[in-house]
Formats: sequence, C-alpha cells, structure tokens
Amino acid sequence: MIEVMEDVIEDLHGHVHRVSDLAVNLGIGIGLGEIDLDRLALAGVLHDVGKIHLDPGILGKPGPLDPTERELMNRHPELGFAMTRNRLDPKVAEAILYHHERYDGRGYPFGLGGEEIPILSRIILVADAFDAITSTRSYQIALPVEFAVNEIRKHAGTQFDPHVVDLFLELAAINRLPLELSA
Ligand SMILES: [Fe+2]
Repeated sequence: MIEVMEDVIEDLHGHVHRVSDLAVNLGIGIGLGEIDLDRLALAGVLHDVGKIHLDPGILGKPGPLDPTERELMNRHPELGFAMTRNRLDPKVAEAILYHHERYDGRGYPFGLGGEEIPILSRIILVADAFDAITSTRSYQIALPVEFAVNEIRKHAGTQFDPHVVDLFLELAAINRLPLELSA
C-alpha cells in the first residue's frame, strides 16, 4: 500500500517515513507504551493514504487550491480512515481520521479540540507540519529548520498541543529532527 501511494503522490517520497520517525520520537518523549508507538509508526506512514483517491492535478498543483479543490483535499482524512478501518488496528485508523484536527477546535473534518483529539493524531500533526515546511513540494521550496521550529512554537496552543510542542522543541534543541536528504 505504501509503495503504491508513493508512486501516485510524488511529493510523498521520503516524507511519510520522516513524519513517522519524528512522531515516534515525540511519542517516546510523551511516554507512550510500545503498542502505541507501533500504532504511531504505522499511522505516521499512512496518515495521508486517503490522498490516493484524489486527482493528481490537485495534488501536484503548483499554486493555492481553489475552494472546490480545497474541499476535495480536506476529505483525505476520512478517505484514509475508510481505507484502513477494517484492515488495521482501529486506533491507527482513528489517528489517520483526526490528523488534521487542531488543538483550538478549528481543524477538520470534525472540529474536535484539545484532548478530544487522540494523542496519536496530535503528535502526527506536529511531525507532519515540521516535515511539510522543511521539504520541497510542488508548491514550495524547502524552508530552513529554524523557520519551521519557530512556526511550530508560534502555534502551540492554537494549532498544536502545547505539550507535544514542548517535546518537539526539546528534540530541536538536541538536533534530533529528521531532514529531507536533499535539503
Ligand atoms: Fe494530511
């Protein structure tokens, strides 16, 4: 499933593995047990699997998405959930479903807030944001690590769980953040 997804979505080469590695490091910091760390590793790799159903024209669009395209794009957590719910540990499918919910309740698809959002999803959101900023995509060049770290710090308590951000900043302080090889 992973290879297929990476072939379809060129942007994701390497991305999902870096997100997974960072998510697991954050999960260790938070004190998750082995079962949850395994779930996190898998959900980190598969979090965007629902994008396989989207039009490659939307995925590879160089500029911002229009409202209709955005609406389609925002369905990827539910599409990923539908693909995984009967095949994988339900907690992995749930982590995928909620990976774009925000701590302040302004995320999607449901607008859950704070601890209503599963911890695995709160962790993936931070790991995904870091990797998205520091990777080259069809719509942006890679930005410096310091910029990404500042962005994540700035959005603690709004977009991100502040406790997860604290752990992220600890990893940043000791240079334990995974980077795109070409960056
Ligand atoms: Fe996503």
